[in-house]
Amino acid sequence: MNWVYLNGEYMPAKHARISPMDRGFLFGDGIYEVIPSYGGQFVGFKPHIERLNQGLAEVEIHLDYDVDKWRDICAQLVRKNGNGNLGVYLHVSRGTSPVRYHAYPEDVTPTVFAYTFEIPPAPVADKNKAKAFKVKTLSDLRWQRCHIKSTALLGNVMHFQAGYKQGFDEVLLFNNDDMLTEAAACNAFVISDDCVITPPLDNQLLPGITRFILLDVLKNYSSLTVKERPVSRQEVDDADEVWITSSTKQVAPVVAIDGKPVGNGQVGDVWQIAQKLFSEHQFDY
Ligand code: PDD
Repeated sequence: MNWVYLNGEYMPAKHARISPMDRGFLFGDGIYEVIPSYGGQFVGFKPHIERLNQGLAEVEIHLDYDVDKWRDICAQLVRKNGNGNLGVYLHVSRGTSPVRYHAYPEDVTPTVFAYTFEIPPAPVADKNKAKAFKVKTLSDLRWQRCHIKSTALLGNVMHFQAGYKQGFDEVLLFNNDDMLTEAAACNAFVISDDCVITPPLDNQLLPGITRFILLDVLKNYSSLTVKERPVSRQEVDDADEVWITSSTKQVAPVVAIDGKPVGNGQVGDVWQIAQKLFSEHQFDY
């Protein structure tokens, strides 16, 4: 049985109902999160809820759930759904309004939905066993508020689909100045001469929690140089290694871009160091 949470109640997924007038449905007017859980242990629980709260504040959705309430909901859902390797999806839409009108309606109650879905086991830091990703490059045609984890994901979906239909695992996106932003559902890193570089946080990319944890563990526990600065297409082409990160993938090594090998075309040594440190410290956050 697949248990979900909807507006204060736990129920089998097939019993969950929301109105077609919900603004999440009509406008994509909502904020979401995906929090990974392995055997009942969450990765980055607090930073995920902090990002959710920042997103809600930015779009003026008022919800009075604190971090303990969210933790209780997520823990209950994970338990009810068998404690395996699960992503917990949290979705808060502005709520249901009787009229379809663009302005934020007053006095609506947000719709709160949560469910779990299976995710792959946490990667083992062994370059001979890692899943190697092949990606395609595309111009980033999304909106200018990519730092908001909005449920309106059509831009990301269209980019991902353009790669998927040609057999790619993800896409790397470049802005009008040909600088790297992120991937359709991941952040991106390039590695050059033992230096780990990722684009800085701004309106062009999501402040990924995996990105945050990875940068922190690399700074605290490795001798690698870590930089948050703009990354050009040339640097991507010349990189020794490229990684993409997300809550469901952790640190994923990219071995080919547009059919051309990254570095020597194999999963790299620096990836192995990074994923090992991530695995060791993932539950500290
Ligand atoms: N995607 N950038 C984008 C556009 C994303 O959608 C995601 C996550 C990330 C990585 O963020 P984090 O490390 O916090 O998962 C970056 C989630 C997993 C999703 O939409 O399913």
